[in-house]
Amino acid sequence: MLRHLTAASLLALGLCGATWAQDKAPAAAPQAPAATAPGAPAASPGIQSANIFDIRPDASTDPNYAKQNNGERARVQPGNNAPMWRQVSGGVTGFTSLPKSQAPEAGNLIQPFVQYPGSSYTTAGEAWRQVRNNWLIPYGGALLLIVLGAIALFYWRVGMIKLHGQPTGRKLERFTPFERSAHWANAIAFSILAISGLVMAFGQFILLPVMGSTLFGWLAYVLKNAHNFAGPVFAVSLLIVIITFIRDNMPAKGDLNWLLKGGGMFSEHEVKSGRFNAGEKVVFWGGVFVLGLVVVASGLVMDKLVPGLVYDRSTMQIAHMVHSVSNILMIVMFMGHIYLGYVTEGALEGMKTGYVDETWAREHHELWHDDIKAGRVPAHRSPQPAPGTTAHA
Ligand code: HEM
Repeated sequence: MLRHLTAASLLALGLCGATWAQDKAPAAAPQAPAATAPGAPAASPGIQSANIFDIRPDASTDPNYAKQNNGERARVQPGNNAPMWRQVSGGVTGFTSLPKSQAPEAGNLIQPFVQYPGSSYTTAGEAWRQVRNNWLIPYGGALLLIVLGAIALFYWRVGMIKLHGQPTGRKLERFTPFERSAHWANAIAFSILAISGLVMAFGQFILLPVMGSTLFGWLAYVLKNAHNFAGPVFAVSLLIVIITFIRDNMPAKGDLNWLLKGGGMFSEHEVKSGRFNAGEKVVFWGGVFVLGLVVVASGLVMDKLVPGLVYDRSTMQIAHMVHSVSNILMIVMFMGHIYLGYVTEGALEGMKTGYVDETWAREHHELWHDDIKAGRVPAHRSPQPAPGTTAHA
């Protein structure tokens, strides 16, 4: 990042220096015809000069080009370097010592002007900025607020989801230590990514006016680095979570019925389900598998970690938009997941200790409970003995 900023600043300084040098040139000096170095590719008019310093008149695009570039503008309006910027935004390629493999577009100070259907004539960078600020930020923010409001409303009307029966004191192993480690590594990395990502996206509108630029600058700097470090932890733990939980998230016979009845959420009893119910399976396939992998893939593109890709601006802009949309969707899905984990009495205990009471298993995952009771599924899977026993159940 710093490297790119430095490169961009140097290029900008170089361009300003070029204008300055050009403006200081004797006004009467005729514009030298463009000399093309032997072996250099022929430049198409006004667009692909081999060097930004080699600015030549281009009557095809602007009849005043020659007048403006030969120092007349500098005499009439000192300091006005509009002609140079017109060329820069026209796609003129400048000189840079950065290797082409690492910075394929470093010679182009800004993206050329383009016209998108239904939009005004603008640079691609400005179009991306408008998509970010006029679409992703307001609609993404609205979606987050709507889901937060819906969760608050749900909590107000339904409240905690308590056990109906008395706990038996007999425990069943719901998650092995390996499953819990994978889950919590992923959940912690996700929380760091979600908080830092939200501050990067919305902070300038919400926190900056309150905190001021110095404090917000430091906060954004710290969180941006935290985001970069949590990303790979999330990627690796996500793959482990997918492999660990995929088997019990495979579609089963009663899933459609569960979904159609909303899990029985508004009735006295939950609809019967296996180890994971259809709601959890939707979160697994939609949130963990599809969105998780899209978020990780687009994040790796933005970190320039995908070999063989050309990291030009448009690739980064597309990766950013895919990353933002999939992230917001993933965050709202996991807001629901985290909420249910907290309000369902005994669920969090299962993910913290690995064990749930038999009553919990019967009320929330009756088919899984029955499978254990019938011996079709082992009641205990981890190498450590169950609490309160010395041998495996
Ligand atoms: C940060 C806060 C989180 C909390 C408090 C939380 C809580 C829980 C709880 C209590 C369970 C057990 C549910 C049950 O016994 O049926 C669970 C299961 C699970 N969680 Fe989380 N979780 C969090 C974040 C995440 C994240 C970020 C992911 C993945 C991206 C995730 C993926 C899973 C999976 C795959 C399961 C197994 C159930 C299923 O396959 O749907 N969790 N979580």
